[in-house]
Amino acid sequence: MTGVVFERLERSEEAVKRLEAVVPVYREVYAEPPYREGPRDAAGFLLRARRQATRSGFRLVVARDDDELVGFSAGYWLPADTGWWRAVQEPLPGAFVQESGRRTFNVAELAVRKAWRRRGIAAELHRRLISGLEAERVTLTVRPEPEAAPARAAYAAWGYRKVGRARYGDGSPAYDVLVSSPR
Ligand SMILES: CC(C)(COP(=O)(O)OP(=O)(O)OC[C@H]1O[C@@H](n2cnc3c(N)ncnc32)[C@H](O)[C@@H]1OP(=O)(O)O)[C@@H](O)C(=O)NCCC(=O)NCCS
Repeated sequence: MTGVVFERLERSEEAVKRLEAVVPVYREVYAEPPYREGPRDAAGFLLRARRQATRSGFRLVVARDDDELVGFSAGYWLPADTGWWRAVQEPLPGAFVQESGRRTFNVAELAVRKAWRRRGIAAELHRRLISGLEAERVTLTVRPEPEAAPARAAYAAWGYRKVGRARYGDGSPAYDVLVSSPR
């Protein structure tokens, strides 16, 4: 990881501006299988990320190697009225799905460009994204087995466990919903 520099931006106009610089990284990474996304999806990412950037606790962490952006991660607090857990097919206890706006941090994005993988960059992005938060738990989604094996291996190594399967929006693929307890 020598030479790779990390920067964290909290919710701000600057963070919103920086999202545009992240789009080429998103496009490159998510063109790969199993995602096979195209330019329209990358445009969709920017719209989604701009919406997320208005949420409480939004953070964006970027990794740079010299002047090249090589990876990023972003997240925010689940709001009290979130539909996050309602989308999970498996029944979850009432106390589990209760949100306060400061209970659960959602890791919405994590991506590292291929040439920079297996150097601990995702681990450092993730660590910096959630560091200092008083979150009871962190949640994220990942494509089910056998897809996205590197991501699933990373999340297992970082202590995430599966709580169920969900689809977020019409036509969305199924995702495993994972949770970890960083405290
Ligand atoms: C998932 C991803 C972000 C990992 O990035 P990375 O910088 O290579 O990850 P790290 O080097 O920090 O690895 C962290 C741990 O994840 C696991 N891991 C990562 N890639 C792996 C692979 N190809 N095979 C097995 N385990 C892997 C390992 O446990 C690794 O720790 P180790 O290297 O000490 O063994 C990257 O592969 C990626 O961008 N994939 C495409 C986008 C994606 O799937 N994002 C997640 C969406 S849910």
